[in-house]
Order: sequence, then C-alpha cells, then structure tokens
Amino acid sequence: MFRGPLEESLVRRAQERGLVTIRVHDLRAYTRDRHRVVDDVPYGGGAGMVLKPEPVFAAVEALMAGRADSRVVLLSPQGQRLTHQVALEFAARDHLILLCGRYEGFDERIRTALATDEVSIGDVVLSGGELAALVVLEAVVRLVPGVVGAEASVRMDSFYGGLLDYPQYTRPASFRGLAVPPVLLSGDHERIRRWRRKEALRRTRARRPDLLATAPLTEEDRQLLQEIADEEGGGPRPPPGGR
Ligand code: ADE
Repeated sequence: MFRGPLEESLVRRAQERGLVTIRVHDLRAYTRDRHRVVDDVPYGGGAGMVLKPEPVFAAVEALMAGRADSRVVLLSPQGQRLTHQVALEFAARDHLILLCGRYEGFDERIRTALATDEVSIGDVVLSGGELAALVVLEAVVRLVPGVVGAEASVRMDSFYGGLLDYPQYTRPASFRGLAVPPVLLSGDHERIRRWRRKEALRRTRARRPDLLATAPLTEEDRQLLQEIADEEGGGPRPPPGGR
C-alpha cells in the first residue's frame, strides 16, 4: 500500500535528496504473542474487531525514544479536517508519527493517552488510515523547505494565498471550438495578472465563499470582487454539485 506512492515523483526525490526520511512500520512487529495478534473483540459486544492498545503503544514508544517533541497523528474520520494550515504545522516539525487505524476501530486509550493529534482527510469513511496517511504525507512533504524547486509554484497553489487557483490553459488556442481567453494571448503581463487574480476571486466566490471571508484581500481585490458582483448580479452562486 505504501511502496508505490513513496517511490514516485516528488516524495521519492525528497527522500533521495535527504530532505525527509520516511519509514513504514508493521504493528505486528510489536506484538509479543506467537500469533502476532493486533486486534481483539470489543468489550460490550458488537461486530468487528478493535485494534489492541499494547502493540500500538509499544510501537509509538519505540519510535519516540529520544524524540519527546514528536507529534503522534491518528488518522480517523473523527479527526480535525486536514487543511493547508494543518499541513504547514506538521511540516514545521522534525518528527511525525502517522498512526493508521484499521478494522472497525481502535481502543479508545490510543486516542486519549497516545495521540497528540487526530486528523481526517474528509467526511468520508475509508477502510483504514493508510491512504489517509499518504495524503497527509504528500501534503506535508511538499511544504518541507527545499522539496518543491520553484517556490513560486507552491506559493501560487490554491490556499497559499487563501484563494482557489485561476484557470490555466495551454496550446492549442482553440480546441473543439473552445477558445483560450484572448487576454492570455495578449502578451500584456499586467492585464494577464489582473485577469488571473480576478478569475481566482470569481472561482473562490462561486465555490468557496467561506474562504473569501478569511483570505487576505487587497484594495484591488475588493475592486475586482465588485466588478464580479456587477457582472454576475446577486450573491454567490450555489456550490458546484456536478454538471
Ligand atoms: N480512516 C478511515 N477514514 C478516514 C478518513 N476519512 N480520514 C482519515 N483516516 C481515516
């Protein structure tokens, strides 16, 4: 489950360049019984199995040795939603332990006495925390200084400036009768900059008005938003729910 994503593109290069070290640990290696059992039936009855506390505590304590500053991040649908802000906080840490739940759940004492953070990648239930951990990992690795070459390309990403991205086009200038906005072919850098900013604002206003409330807006942004409001009339459009 981990090998593919950890051995590709940006995450692979970050490891090769020594900017991050990523290790995958098997909880079964921290069991002490012959059958290396990591789960058990729930007290009180009910379906499914629950991840036992002993191997999880043993694993985390072994990985934390000499690293009192480590964060222990439990992946679960009950956690705080993953955001750019959360990824930034994790990227500033020297050491992170991403703890993947499995089965129907894990013993509550893992949550209350071991985890320092609990993170969800969205209001959806996955079969386990592994893919969620990879999502967190990729988001965090991108933000480790030096990992993404062109600082500008990270900074322009959605959420860096608190806004969604402006639309991008490449050749051909006309595809199946769909034309690239003429301003982008104009060579007028100031007009292009203003158009991009305006389209980023338009898209954010239409899809994520909640982000506009906290984005750092300039006087020009407010002007552009007024233009958009005049063009479109009324309040924000309903969020996209498909075609
Ligand atoms: N494990 C199962 N579902 C999850 C989710 N949505 N986020 C993080 N971990 C999970």
